Amino acid sequence: MNEAPGAPQSRGPACPAGQVKSRLAHHKRAVMMIELPFFPFCAMINTRTSLRACLYRWMLIGLVGRQIDRDFVKENAMNVIEAIHCRRSYKGKYKDIPVPKEDLIKIMQAGLDAPSGCNMQTTSLIAVDDPKILEKFHLVIEPPVGETAPAAICVLTQRINAYRDKCFAVQDYSAAIQNMLLAIVELGYQSCWYEGHITDDDKICDKMAQILNVPDSYELVCYLPVGIAESDSMQPKKKAFEERAWFNSFPQV
Ligand SMILES: Cc1cc2nc3c(=O)[nH]c(=O)nc-3n(C[C@H](O)[C@H](O)[C@H](O)COP(=O)(O)O)c2cc1C
Repeated sequence: MNEAPGAPQSRGPACPAGQVKSRLAHHKRAVMMIELPFFPFCAMINTRTSLRACLYRWMLIGLVGRQIDRDFVKENAMNVIEAIHCRRSYKGKYKDIPVPKEDLIKIMQAGLDAPSGCNMQTTSLIAVDDPKILEKFHLVIEPPVGETAPAAICVLTQRINAYRDKCFAVQDYSAAIQNMLLAIVELGYQSCWYEGHITDDDKICDKMAQILNVPDSYELVCYLPVGIAESDSMQPKKKAFEERAWFNSFPQV
């Protein structure tokens, strides 16, 4: 299900995720510095050497770029309030840079650390970083979302009652998802809470669950792509604080 078009969106450069452009500029500068001494040689020698120099240049750009992206992820750790303010639903392309397993574990642990009604812990998680499984997802997620992400976390729930006839499964997995989204931002990655898209009438979630061998007693309810953003996040227009939050009583009209 595609989201209904809401308020106009703008690009937001305020958070690290919005600093991709300056990162790219830095990255190009670094490559120039490395290759500068070799230019006079290439110009003096023949065309084949120049072509080879071009090839090396692109390899260098790739290697330097990857390192800069990794350093950027490490350097931009933030506290929880910053992460809350910076988190946005990222719907752009991701860089082709793997997410280390230890980061995926940190993100999943943040999800599992969330509160749950009567501590029933109804939420379970499956991280996917195997390109073959991601490829299978791409075949069933139609229209495609998060298809360039090098990893994803699938959220499973068990709709069991926590107390008498009260089932808190939705609240449980929502708390887990929000914790994970914040951990994702804190670690320098981006994501988006894709629930409507996969749980709509065409039941993409069931096809994804089948790919992951999820037993019938669990439901796959949410898909979180994880990766380093290729572009800036969009800033959805949010209502002003005063329109939605008050002190001591509901405002009198
Ligand atoms: C329960 C829930 C389901 C969502 N499902 C989708 C979805 O299916 N597709 C999508 O593009 N975004 C989805 N989103 C993300 C919302 O579009 C996004 O949170 C909203 O536009 C506000 O933007 P923000 O997250 O950047 O603050 C979902 C968010 C929530 C909380």
